[in-house]
Amino acid sequence: MTGLPWDASYHDGPAPWDIGGPQPAVIRVAAEGGFTGPVLDAGCGSGENALHIAEQGLLVVGCDVAETALTRARAKAAERGLDVEFAVADALRLDSLGRRFATVLDCGLFHTFDRDERPGYVASLASVTEPGARLYLLCFSDEGPDTGPHPVSQDELRAAFTPSTGWDIVALEADRVHTRFHGERGAPAWFVTVDRSAKRA
Ligand SMILES: C[S@@+](CC[C@H](N)C(=O)[O-])C[C@H]1O[C@@H](n2cnc3c(N)ncnc32)[C@H](O)[C@@H]1O
Repeated sequence: MTGLPWDASYHDGPAPWDIGGPQPAVIRVAAEGGFTGPVLDAGCGSGENALHIAEQGLLVVGCDVAETALTRARAKAAERGLDVEFAVADALRLDSLGRRFATVLDCGLFHTFDRDERPGYVASLASVTEPGARLYLLCFSDEGPDTGPHPVSQDELRAAFTPSTGWDIVALEADRVHTRFHGERGAPAWFVTVDRSAKRA
């Protein structure tokens, strides 16, 4: 049932966040060689970010709870001749994938979880990574103007990713996230680089 409301977002044309191409932040990291395979795109939507990373020659898995989005992502992969696996999976139970990833991308997923869900999500990310893996997270920022829905503060990000949960924040920078309703500059965002560490009390 978890995926049904999300699936509906993809029924009548592109979802508000579905900009028809990769996010500029993802293009930048890919150009810098920041992704190492295998890569997981958690909450991949219709797959533009995952497909862009796959174009760099990396093994990529995208997962989402919205079947309609995944069907669209698979069609795009076929059209572009890219071999990307798009799987139905709940990001709160990523262990169901039975895999480990060197890099995880979260583009617009973290900010959809409420405070009670975040610890479970962070633990789920840990379950598919080993120390040394890297997470890139792009989310709406609470530093306006013109913030997106469910904006997140720096403090909330620093509370979620801690050495005791097995994560070290390497960089937390102001960025932009593009949507279909925020105009050319997009909305204020945080771009967070987080390294998976051994859990430290
Ligand atoms: C804001 S959209 C971002 C989609 C995509 N990353 C992008 O940049 O276009 C959030 C995505 O997370 C998915 N999602 C929400 N909750 C999820 C969950 N528990 N597990 C997996 N995917 C989830 C939604 O279906 C939606 O596709």
